[in-house]
Amino acid sequence: LASATAVIAAAGSGERLGAGGPKTFVEAHGRSLLAWSLVAFKAAEGIEAIVIAGPPREQGRVFEVAERAGVEATVVPGGDHRSQSVANALEAVRTDLVVVHDAARPLVTAELIEQVVARLDRDPDVAGVIAAAPVTDTIKEASVSRRVLRTPERSRMWAVQTPQAFRTAGLRAAIAEHPDDLGIVTDDAQLVERSGGEILIHQASPDNLKVTTPRDLKIAEMLLAERSGT
Ligand code: CTP
Ligand code: MG
Repeated sequence: LASATAVIAAAGSGERLGAGGPKTFVEAHGRSLLAWSLVAFKAAEGIEAIVIAGPPREQGRVFEVAERAGVEATVVPGGDHRSQSVANALEAVRTDLVVVHDAARPLVTAELIEQVVARLDRDPDVAGVIAAAPVTDTIKEASVSRRVLRTPERSRMWAVQTPQAFRTAGLRAAIAEHPDDLGIVTDDAQLVERSGGEILIHQASPDNLKVTTPRDLKIAEMLLAERSGT
């Protein structure tokens, strides 16, 4: 299996969850959100290193979480925006392939990580492979004033997740080409797309949800409990 470095974006402040601190350290079913992701990456074949972008003022705490999860990781301070955190972590990556993941997705599995990396490795023409689930709601695009502009065909819409696997050089180049967009983009693939790179979707389970609100945390806890049979 191809070898890749994991980049974990874990430097957010977790405003919408409102837990009074970074979401990364919030517990769900007995482990912090970050620890759940680390355990999955540790179990994934071909992951040769892990770089975590953590909250700048809590680097020590990130180390402790990694240590307790039995993971040897490099910890770097995150930036003001998610893409900046990823850019910071990329500086410590030494492999040709990288797989970016949000610590806010504790339901990621080793299998899903292996699948996106393997799919990327198989095809030299592909710049990135991203996990995504088909949407079940109809999606409308609206103006700022909420006037509906269009209704894209639902069967072709995907709700994008992480992990997202890229060629390290390609992702670095895409970030360097769009320095002003780092505060706007919500996933890494967007930057690579804009640079003309081909991105493929790998269908993943909607269970691989992002914990954003207290409601998401409740659902994640339920799914983690169900998965571990306790
Ligand atoms: N993230 C990051 N660096 C930032 C902002 C976000 O590494 N400057 C990470 C978060 O830690 C999270 C992922 O990007 O794992 C997705 O971001 P989001 O869900 O928005 O998390 P937060 O920014 O922490 O939450 P909020 O926007 O509610 O404050
Ligand atoms: Mg955020």
